[in-house]
Amino acid sequence: MEKIVFSVSANKKCAKEVANLLGCEEGKIQINHFQDGEVMVKTKSDVKDKIVIVIQSTSSPAHEKLFKLLLLLDSIKRGGAYKIYLYIPYFGYSRQERVSFKNEPISCEVVARILDTAKVDKIISFDIHHKDIKDFFKTEFINKPTTSLFKNYYKSILNDEINDKNNIVIVSPDHGSNERAHLLGDALKNAPVIILDKYRPAPNKAEHLKSDADVKDKTCIIVDDIIDTGGTLISASKLLKDKGAKKVLICASHAVLSKNSKKLLKSKQIADIVVTNSIEKRKIKGINYLSISPLIVDDFKD
Ligand code: R5P
Repeated sequence: MEKIVFSVSANKKCAKEVANLLGCEEGKIQINHFQDGEVMVKTKSDVKDKIVIVIQSTSSPAHEKLFKLLLLLDSIKRGGAYKIYLYIPYFGYSRQERVSFKNEPISCEVVARILDTAKVDKIISFDIHHKDIKDFFKTEFINKPTTSLFKNYYKSILNDEINDKNNIVIVSPDHGSNERAHLLGDALKNAPVIILDKYRPAPNKAEHLKSDADVKDKTCIIVDDIIDTGGTLISASKLLKDKGAKKVLICASHAVLSKNSKKLLKSKQIADIVVTNSIEKRKIKGINYLSISPLIVDDFKD
């Protein structure tokens, strides 16, 4: 069955790469903006009876990316696609997956309900913020780990260091990344995992409680799903270095890197930063980027 790969606006390089790797067509789209601010998105490529792969992170501006995506999906559906697989590498609103204070909406569930209306065959995301988000969907929802990308990366840069598991400690900077940290620990020859206790003294500020974990002279790899302000990783790195860690490396699946995240790059405590390209932005010097394309292509290997 013929395949075709689209992105609306968020993951264009990734869509091109996936199309190349699969040896299939890259879909063309048309976007019209009207005087009143309304938008129209449609496929310019023939999708009839094809397997359609759509890749679009709903990163900032999330509303615009989400709405354009919904329009493209409707156009593809009406074009008679055989199957539609929707990849949302970074799922915007995933951090609003519960009520923390009275009268708050569960915005993530609202987004899930909206996406259900597109009636695609499957939705796939990577390292989504909370594993139970899949239950918000009626559509089949797959949460794919990016562990293999980070495993290969650390194998290449740490070489012999990872052969002795006494050298390495995998660190979850809060309880939310526990499972992710264990996946990486298992992939790196069962390296031990520690979990730090994070608290937020104010919105967008992160601090950690003291920890009695032994990290002296160890290489610590902190694993998180999202780098937003960078506060979580700066605070966790400082704690580990204060406790005598030999070096601290950080990896995160989604580089949101909002305005005030520059401090992260200046932090002397951090030896290496690696992220995926789930959010396509201009690359920042000092950050290493891993492509998620092979993880998408893997799903279509016969
Ligand atoms: C929080 O629960 C997430 O897993 C991340 O730790 C958080 O979003 C990172 O945000 P920031 O970089 O602003 O500390």
